[in-house]
Order: sequence, then C-alpha cells, then structure tokens
Amino acid sequence: MSHNLLKGKKGIIFGALDDKSIAWKVALESVANGADIVLTNAPIALRMGSIHDLAKKCNSKIIAADATSLDDLNNLFSESMDYLGGKIDFILHSIGMSVNVRKKRQYTDLNYDFLMKGLDVSAVSFHKMLQSAFKLEAISDWGSIIALSYIAAQRTFPDYNDMAENKAYLESVARSFGYHYGKSNNVRINTISQSPTMTTAGSGVTGFDAFFEYANKLSPLGNASSEDCAKYCISLFSDYTKLVTMQNLFHDGGFSSTGVSQELIDIFKKK
Ligand SMILES: NC(=O)c1ccc[n+]([C@@H]2O[C@H](COP(=O)([O-])OP(=O)(O)OC[C@H]3O[C@@H](n4cnc5c(N)ncnc54)[C@H](O)[C@@H]3O)[C@@H](O)[C@H]2O)c1
Repeated sequence: MSHNLLKGKKGIIFGALDDKSIAWKVALESVANGADIVLTNAPIALRMGSIHDLAKKCNSKIIAADATSLDDLNNLFSESMDYLGGKIDFILHSIGMSVNVRKKRQYTDLNYDFLMKGLDVSAVSFHKMLQSAFKLEAISDWGSIIALSYIAAQRTFPDYNDMAENKAYLESVARSFGYHYGKSNNVRINTISQSPTMTTAGSGVTGFDAFFEYANKLSPLGNASSEDCAKYCISLFSDYTKLVTMQNLFHDGGFSSTGVSQELIDIFKKK
C-alpha cells in the first residue's frame, strides 16, 4: 500500500541483485511511494543478476559502479544528478561480501588479503560513498542515507566470521559521518540492523537456516521480512523521521531485546 511518502524525492539504491535482495524490495517500495530512483550495482552483478527486470518495473536507469572505486562513485553521483534532474534525497547502501566466508575460512584461520577485500566492499565502501557524495554536494538538505547491518556487530555469531567486524565498522561510519553531514547539510545517516533474511548474501553464511529458525523462535514478532525492511526504509527516507540520525536501528521483531522465548524453552525442557 502506497502513502506517497516519497513523492517528489530522488534516490539511489545500491545492491539489488535479484528478487530476493533486500534492495530489490526497497526499490519497488520507493517507487510505489512516489520516488524516482537510479539503481546501481557492481558491473559483474549487472551481468549475472536480474536488475534489468527491476529497472523496467521501476522505470529507472541503471548506472554501474563498483562501490570500492571512487571514480565509479563520482561518476555515479554526477550521472544520477543529471538523470534525476537535481540533488539526491535518499540512498540505500545494501552491500555485503566476505571473501573468507565465501572460501569457508574459519575465523581462527583468516586470510588477511581476503579480509581487506571484504572490509573494503562491505564497510569502507560506505565511507567512500558518503565522501564522494559530500565532495560533489550531491545530497539535498535533510537527505537521508541508510546502510544495512546485522546484530553480529554487537554479539558473537561464530559463523558470521569477519563480517562481524565489517558491520561494526559500517555502524561506526554512520555515527561519525552522520555528525559531519548533519552539521553541514542536515543530512541524516543511520544503519538498520535487520533480521536474518533469505537472500544470496544471507544464505552464504554456514548454518544460515539454523540461525534463521533460531532468531524466528526467539523474536516475539518473528523475523522481519525483506518487505517489512523496505517499509521501514521508506519511513526513514521520508520527512516523518527528519531528526533521527547516527543510530543503529534494530529491525528484528524484538530479537535484540529478548533473552529467551517459550518456544526455545520448550525445545530444551526435559520431557
Ligand atoms: N540477508 C540477511 O540475512 C541480512 C541480514 C542483515 C543485514 N543484511 C545486509 O543487507 C545487505 C544486502 O544484502 P542481501 O541480504 O540483500 O543480499 P544480496 O546478495 O542480494 O545483496 C548484496 C549486494 O552487494 C552487492 N555488491 C557486492 N560487491 C559489490 C561491490 N564491489 N560494489 C557494489 N555492490 C556490490 C551485490 O552485487 C549484491 O547486489 C548487506 O549489507 C547484508 O549484509 C543481510
């Protein structure tokens, strides 16, 4: 259901790979709420994924950008402002990748070249994106920027591996850059810490099905879906949340505040 919360706003959505991607749902929900958007992803993802189908549905342009390349990011912001006809009102950073996770390296046996690559893609890219936008004066006053995170930044989930540190860095960038961008242009920057969600990146983590089910049983409201995450993003892009900034916002059905649930007690109760 659309409330036209983003009517007249212009946005850039990073990270829609296929129809399971959280960014895919955010793109659809943004357009349903009246926004004009540009879609972007790494060149290889444009070849392998189905982002072109999404662009048709959203009547939007795709501009390729490797989020670790400042040249690509500078080009993305310049071209997006030309295409959309002005400064950008909202951005979603929905990018994550760990080479150590992909190659099944244990946390106690990390390859540091892999670690640096994953850090650059998953976390430093957020700073690069913000710095590029800041220098090009690409974001409107009272613009809103969101990156997606996970609770492994605060608590240990062994198989989440070095992505835990990547998410901690990402959340810290939202606070630090949020200060500077808030002071200069009233731009707000937040991270959303999302429930486990069945996507390409999510299901790459060992034991993902088990911790998806565990989180679902622990959370009083159950896991938050990607569709619900998209709705939450729209509220944060909208003018109804203008004073929310530098926060890590849990969108997890109550998981982060729950010690144990009756469903889990029942599993371990001696019969
Ligand atoms: N799925 C989950 O359980 C879950 C939970 C919490 C947070 N998140 C976060 O949500 C975000 C989106 O992930 P998703 O679950 O939708 O999976 P996804 O695999 O659909 O999205 C990840 C995206 O990152 C893009 N990407 C990778 N390297 C890139 C690069 N160099 N430049 C530009 N883009 C690049 C991929 O092409 C892909 O589109 C990630 O930050 C992820 O960590 C996911």
